[in-house]
Amino acid sequence: MDDLRDKWLTAILDAGDEAALEDVRVAAVGKKGEVALKMRELGRMTPEERQQAGPRLNALKDEINAALSARKASLEDAALEARLADEWLDVTLPTRARHAGTIHPVSQVTEEVTAIFADMGFGVAEGPQIETDWYVFDALNIPGHHPARAEMDTFYMGRDAGADENGNPFVLRTHTSPVQIRSMEAQGAPLRVICPGRVYRADYDQTHTPMFHQVEGLALDRDITMANLKWCLEEFCRAFFEVESIDLRFRASHFPFTEPSAEVDIRCSWEGGTLKLGQGDDWLEILGSGMVHPKVLQAGGVDPDEWQGFAFGMGIDRIAMLKYGIPDLRAFFDADLRWLRHYGFSPLAAPTRHAG
Ligand code: PHE
Repeated sequence: MDDLRDKWLTAILDAGDEAALEDVRVAAVGKKGEVALKMRELGRMTPEERQQAGPRLNALKDEINAALSARKASLEDAALEARLADEWLDVTLPTRARHAGTIHPVSQVTEEVTAIFADMGFGVAEGPQIETDWYVFDALNIPGHHPARAEMDTFYMGRDAGADENGNPFVLRTHTSPVQIRSMEAQGAPLRVICPGRVYRADYDQTHTPMFHQVEGLALDRDITMANLKWCLEEFCRAFFEVESIDLRFRASHFPFTEPSAEVDIRCSWEGGTLKLGQGDDWLEILGSGMVHPKVLQAGGVDPDEWQGFAFGMGIDRIAMLKYGIPDLRAFFDADLRWLRHYGFSPLAAPTRHAG
């Protein structure tokens, strides 16, 4: 009995892992284990022998079981310790400089633009990309026969897309100007909003893609003039392009929804193949603008006898190309990782002008 006891208690202590310990358990106290076999021998003993051996065997069985549980617990603890040591992680380490993902220049520039105009008191508004032709054209003083409707290369939704409750069919918005109307409807005057978002036109070459981004600006009050528009845009360009001396040219133009209208060009030079802003003899068009047409105010539910203001629409992709020297617009939408790593921004870097 003592040999048996020594043998199995030693085997239990020697078991190096839970699988080995299980083998020991089966061989010692399993149904066909050595202790069970000894129990069977009790039947062949005399009653006196049995009275002695029975309790001792039972006690041995209990002792082996207790040793098994103790060994099992210590093996489990050791396994956990080993795993904790192996998977150890210092959460106080600084993050790695290189990130798998980057912020797309369009997102970065949208952030920059909204931050700069937020400083001037403009809120941000958004509208739907699938819009009715009323918001995209009619409300902006572009009636059905107007050539601008054709010039815009509009994508029309299929007939089964239906129409709104007034029978106006849906189109993909060709500009962010419909958000002017929606903002007036929602907030009335006075009003200061910028509206960034995606717009769509059937056009494709080095400087045109069927989907691109614009940001609309709208400022309404009792006495807003072209002078305010000029100051705002100059202030914006200085902050956005981060150059002190910026030169803007306001060129008389025509939009059905503004009167008077002006397109704005920025002075630049292409000398030596690199683009420099604020110097040189070249001009690059960056936006359309003007004083909001009274009919547009009316369509937005704002009284043109009481309120007036300016609006502008700027190409986000266009100013991103200018600021970051990106030559081909189409690459913006290729989702090429090498391009994104080169032109993308670190997710942890705050965009310009955002206070940390
Ligand atoms: N919506 C015009 C465009 O897409 C830009 C614009 C907006 C012009 C607001 C004047 C006023 O070209």
